[in-house]
Amino acid sequence: MPYDRYRDRGYDYDYDFRGYAGRYDDPMVLQGDAMQRGAFHGPTVRERRANDKDLEVQKWVRESDGEDYLYLHVKNIGVGGQGQCDLYRRSGKSNKLVVCKVMKDGFDLAYDRKGRRKPAEAIILKDILGPHPLICHLQASTSHRFWFEYCALGDLQDFCDAYIEHGTRIPESFVWHSYRQLAEAFAFIHEGYSTHTSQKPPHFQPVVHRDVKPSNIFIRENPRHTYPDLVLADFGVAITNSALKNENGYILGTTIYQPPEIPYHSRAGDIWSAGACLHVLTTGSPPIKALPKGKSSKDWYQAPEARVVADLRSSGYSHNLHAAVMWTLRRRRADRVLGKELVSRVAKAERDYLDKGGPKVALARWVGKK
Ligand SMILES: Nc1ncnc2c1ncn2[C@@H]1O[C@H](COP(=O)(O)OP(=O)(O)OP(=O)(O)O)[C@@H](O)[C@H]1O
Ligand SMILES: [Mg+2]
Repeated sequence: MPYDRYRDRGYDYDYDFRGYAGRYDDPMVLQGDAMQRGAFHGPTVRERRANDKDLEVQKWVRESDGEDYLYLHVKNIGVGGQGQCDLYRRSGKSNKLVVCKVMKDGFDLAYDRKGRRKPAEAIILKDILGPHPLICHLQASTSHRFWFEYCALGDLQDFCDAYIEHGTRIPESFVWHSYRQLAEAFAFIHEGYSTHTSQKPPHFQPVVHRDVKPSNIFIRENPRHTYPDLVLADFGVAITNSALKNENGYILGTTIYQPPEIPYHSRAGDIWSAGACLHVLTTGSPPIKALPKGKSSKDWYQAPEARVVADLRSSGYSHNLHAAVMWTLRRRRADRVLGKELVSRVAKAERDYLDKGGPKVALARWVGKK
């Protein structure tokens, strides 16, 4: 069955929860009697309460990756209109940190290739795209919860805000690095192209993200490189390009990052939004004119004429960087550079910058410390 977005929301079903016996309201949260029965490794609730003085620490949950782990709630890391994201620490030697995203009303469900109903975001990330180093890794999911890798340096919005607060410009070498990694992430979701392998994901279909913005780009430490990785995240309104053909023209996502052809979404629209993120990195704001007096912000941010692109040279960046970012911020969507071509152009331009002696400046020490 082809992927088809299912608009209903699900409340009452469990999916793919290996080794899970019995039915609970939410299969990811261990209910009291399951813990007392000792159904899983680790201490029972009673033992934990006796050993642990911190009564805040009560939310033990497990994931569905075939092994029984217990998870300890650490802190809340983000709240949206629809739900929230919390950080958990896995018990045992690895002490791995993971993020649990919970939706108040459950996720948008869709049918996967085998006709099973699953959260649309899980189908896109697991079944259609598969893993990629620059896409936030989804470890497990139910109809109400997602388990994601934790990107310890936070999101790109906080990163930009911290530079603005400190009155410091983001190094141009990091902007080039960000641009190349964003180009790679989009070439992967749009075309299945990867610089890491020549094989396309087995069930690949082009995906349009539709909500690209700095707070949906996370930053993951990479000890082997000078710079951390930029990781594309939050596929909550993503859709396959083929399904999009039947349901385009709706206002979705965050309008200030969206292209002049708003409300029409497309791969070229995602690329404008990626350029809008680079605009934030370099100028501190998205490519939008200030709200004129007397206009409603909702109408203005949806108006094509509100889009305006700054000259990045006036923020202290090179002519070449400005020219390269403009490949993504062209008004006509047919003129924007996408996919594999964008990756090779940006990689070449970044190399030229460094070969001509452009300095590779380390990020500030306060990055990621909130
Ligand atoms: N895996 C993660 N690693 C690091 N930070 C995360 C992670 N997941 C979520 N966050 C933080 O929580 C915020 C909200 O996460 P996310 O975008 O997935 O949820 P959302 O409810 O869809 O938010 P919104 O509607 O604002 O886009 C992120 O902007 C980020 O700051
Ligand atoms: Mg988000």
